[in-house]
Amino acid sequence: MTERMSSPNANQDEEFYEKTLRPQFLTQYIGQDKVKEELTIYIQAAKNREEALDHVLLYGPPGLGKTTMAMVIANEMEVNIRTTSGPSIEKPGDLIAILNELEPGDVLFIDEIHRLPRVAEEMLYSAMEDFYVDIMVGQGTTSHPVHFPLPPFTLIGATTRAGMLSAPLRDRFGIISHMEYYEEKDLKEIVLRSSVVFQTEIVTEGAAEIARRSRGTPRIANRLLKRIRDFAQVQADGIIDKKIADKALTLLQVDQEGLDHIDQKLIKTMIELYGGGPVGLNTLSVNIGEEQATVEDMYEPFLIQKGFLKRTPRGRIATVLSYEHFQYPYQTNLE
Ligand SMILES: Nc1ncnc2c1ncn2[C@@H]1O[C@H](COP(=O)(O)OP(=O)(O)OP(=O)(O)O)[C@@H](O)[C@H]1O
Ligand SMILES: [Mg+2]
Repeated sequence: MTERMSSPNANQDEEFYEKTLRPQFLTQYIGQDKVKEELTIYIQAAKNREEALDHVLLYGPPGLGKTTMAMVIANEMEVNIRTTSGPSIEKPGDLIAILNELEPGDVLFIDEIHRLPRVAEEMLYSAMEDFYVDIMVGQGTTSHPVHFPLPPFTLIGATTRAGMLSAPLRDRFGIISHMEYYEEKDLKEIVLRSSVVFQTEIVTEGAAEIARRSRGTPRIANRLLKRIRDFAQVQADGIIDKKIADKALTLLQVDQEGLDHIDQKLIKTMIELYGGGPVGLNTLSVNIGEEQATVEDMYEPFLIQKGFLKRTPRGRIATVLSYEHFQYPYQTNLE
């Protein structure tokens, strides 16, 4: 009973936080300096010319703020944003319905654009390049194409891997921005900002500890902050300091390097079952019970960047750093 009554509120809270956590303008968007710097110029130039901004492709690991950036761009351009995603467009009609609603200069945001069906993708070619689509109307012998002009608009596509996009689609984006894992100082700032939204007291060292162990990812930092806030309330005086943060993170199975239990399982599996590799991605994924795409998009990029794992033509290998971190004696199958 209590659960049923509290869950709608919990959802509303969630939505409220998500809205307030999201920065609205480029100047409020923390980190990703290179992406911001370039976009600032392109946005300014497009606004001066009173044109739609060129199409933008945002790619990078999940939770780094691609959706947030798309919204910021629309705000900066002072236009509407229409949001959809690759998997939710099933047939050409779904895409036409959305294109039909666009006003001059609007942003069309397509999340997971690499999962767009082929027919929809092909319609985008002319839509992006010359702002029209040709639609086939009627059936059999009466079937004929109808030319359907569109207002100039900005397509913003988001994807976890640019390599998964077909070349013709990728080539139609004038602006291609790679989102990187966040630096600790930026994540710390995000945590401090979010704790204001959550109305939680936090000391700088507490925020730094969360930042250090958030896999360079704002979404993870915000999620951990929420959980640690609960610990601080129940087990301490409500203030998040380094000690409480550390204690909570350890309970949440986030280790000193910020590796979560799946990262840990992945590397331990490589070392314990495969002598540190090389081991194929598929084998590895099956062993830890995760989808191959999840391992490739979410776990590997961070582990590679941190130097725990390497991709070789023969498969994945655990590095010396991994052996040291998990305190195994170093051995290797490679000469
Ligand atoms: N630069 C930032 N400053 C503050 N908060 C941020 C920033 N970037 C992202 N966030 C927060 O991190 C969370 C994840 O951001 P977002 O949903 O935009 O990520 P995403 O890259 O679209 O993820 P996915 O690939 O999973 O769709 C949101 O709660 C957002 O408010
Ligand atoms: Mg997103």
